[in-house]
Amino acid sequence: MAEISSKINKEAKIAVLCGGMSSEAEVSRRSGKNCFNALQRLGYKNSEIVEVDKNIAQKLKDGNYEYAYNALHGKYGEDGCVQGILEILGIPYTGCGVMSSAVCMNKEYTKKVLSTCKDIPLAKSAFVRKGDNLEEKTAGLKFPVITKPVSEGSSFGMTKVNTREELQSAYEEAVKYNDDVLIEEFIDGFFVTVGVLEKDGKNFATEILEIRPKNEWYDFEAKYTAGMSEFIIPARLSEEMTKKVKEISVKAHEVAGCRGVSRVDLMIGNDGIPYVIEINTSPGMTDTSDLPAQCKVMGISYDDLVQIILNGAGLNK
Ligand SMILES: Nc1ncnc2c1ncn2[C@@H]1O[C@H](COP(=O)(O)OP(=O)(O)O)[C@@H](O)[C@H]1O
Ligand SMILES: [Mg+2]
Repeated sequence: MAEISSKINKEAKIAVLCGGMSSEAEVSRRSGKNCFNALQRLGYKNSEIVEVDKNIAQKLKDGNYEYAYNALHGKYGEDGCVQGILEILGIPYTGCGVMSSAVCMNKEYTKKVLSTCKDIPLAKSAFVRKGDNLEEKTAGLKFPVITKPVSEGSSFGMTKVNTREELQSAYEEAVKYNDDVLIEEFIDGFFVTVGVLEKDGKNFATEILEIRPKNEWYDFEAKYTAGMSEFIIPARLSEEMTKKVKEISVKAHEVAGCRGVSRVDLMIGNDGIPYVIEINTSPGMTDTSDLPAQCKVMGISYDDLVQIILNGAGLNK
């Protein structure tokens, strides 16, 4: 890829937001440190790491920051909350804005929005709110299904349910995390994830990463235990399927109103259909994260990736 030019003044004071108040605070510190180091190498000598806590608004005001680079993950950092504070303070920030961050944090609302586009395949599902009749709500679903808290990450609270008899206990596990639970038909196939980036006003997909867990699906153990998953990049898909998956991912990013960067998760069904599972609006930027690896194989270095993301600051209005 051609050199990525800077759209931001190299003297600008940039706050790299990391840490925060979610279960992914530690991962965010690793993402933030890496992004900060890249900014330094790129010549943004006035960038600083800012640890996010409940005093973040004051810290940002006192520091007179001109830009915020969002390296937060999960609750408050990826769901529109910190984005709202930055809007109020008038500080341009990287990545998705308030609305798309909030929508994509919730797997059901993501599907509601994406379902308005006929070109984005979605797994059949039921949305169960507290007090709903579980039996009635899920009557039309074919088993196996997968039960998910609507706004968790890291596969927390999720269960693959083979028969209707096992549904109640799986639901109870998911509802410990969120009042609302998404119950989705289990797609037989394999998992892929695709980055979507914005350059010069145009969105494009990264290489596709295929992840083959040793477990039946990409659960917590498979995600966070070395050797429990195989990573194949580019994914072993036909040229035609590769094109289709990239198109669908860019479309999903756009329909959900995302800007700058996201990472779209899909299941490629044995029926040949790529089903969009969720959109991650603040993808990990650690040494072992998916997005930097997806970029590397297409000639976009880690520093180029950080520059592309930084150039998106303020586009998310
Ligand atoms: N409908 C489904 N069918 C089969 N596997 C699924 C389905 N939904 C999710 N999975 C598996 O569960 C993993 C985590 O699901 P996801 O919705 O992306 O939650 P998280 O936010 O925890 O990443 C996926 O990577 C995939 O392996
Ligand atoms: Mg996921």
